[in-house]
Amino acid sequence: MKVVIRFLVGILVFVTDILYRDRPYPRFYVLETIARVPYFAYLSVLHLYETVGYWRKADWLKVHFAETWNELHHLLIMESLGGNNAWGDRFLAQHLALAYYWFVVPLYMLFPPYAYYITVLHNCGICCILLLKFTHCSTLKSSARD
Ligand SMILES: [Fe+2]
Repeated sequence: MKVVIRFLVGILVFVTDILYRDRPYPRFYVLETIARVPYFAYLSVLHLYETVGYWRKADWLKVHFAETWNELHHLLIMESLGGNNAWGDRFLAQHLALAYYWFVVPLYMLFPPYAYYITVLHNCGICCILLLKFTHCSTLKSSARD
């Protein structure tokens, strides 16, 4: 299962690498929109479990909400830099996020450890790519100086 998840996340990163090769802000807008999705899915499933009386994990809800809050701020940064200016970028990000959500919800319900593996990939992948781009990308450094 980890291979499948790594493959799917790898495709996502590869596609955004190609589509957004010369457009770093829209690229990270798309990636950050998607990066929030697993946390929304976890929260949805945990709320559902609580609602039907299956179990209550308030501390898990707090943790996943904090994670969405963190990703929200990454997204706000990308939006403030103009990453969401184009309709097509918003369309792609939102539809990928929707599809991704419906992949993660059943995954979290059936195989929670694998669903959490997605966040490991996010934390080590998408958000670190963002950090690397901001610290090493000459395009961003030069545009930041302008
Ligand atoms: Fe992020």
